[in-house]
Amino acid sequence: MASTNPAAGSGTDAPKIIWNQAQRRFETEDKKAYLQYLIKNGGKVMDMIHTFVPSSKRGLGLASHLCLAAFNHADAHSLSVIPSCSYISDTFLPRNPTWNYLLYSEEKKSNL
Ligand code: COA
Repeated sequence: MASTNPAAGSGTDAPKIIWNQAQRRFETEDKKAYLQYLIKNGGKVMDMIHTFVPSSKRGLGLASHLCLAAFNHADAHSLSVIPSCSYISDTFLPRNPTWNYLLYSEEKKSNL
């Protein structure tokens, strides 16, 4: 079950991440760190295109918290995920492989 994912995000020190539906972002309260996505395939697919954390806050797992919020959202809304952002595909998913079940398949991706 996704909620038991062992990655950072379940502790009491987890930063508050807000879903900004209008701007298609998951972001910190100050909006300075965010994960940007697009909705594709008639609303069934979430293409996570960019993750950004201000340089002064990098290396603390903040991007990981943003990803957890986004993947939990995708799971709760039955969305498949395209990890276009290199942080997500090259760092977050290899470190949190239990989320791979949400990934959109390559064959379907070509139909978008
Ligand atoms: N692609 C893949 N992995 C990356 C990366 C990138 N572009 N930039 C950093 N990482 C890795 C680092 O190697 C680091 O590994 P370490 O833990 O072994 O040191 C790890 O991400 C840090 O993870 P975390 O602390 O969760 O990330 P963060 O809060 O520092 O934020 C970024 C990571 C990528 C969001 C941040 O560095 C950033 O905003 N960079 C500029 C924008 C960017 O390149 N975004 C990614 C492409 S869309």
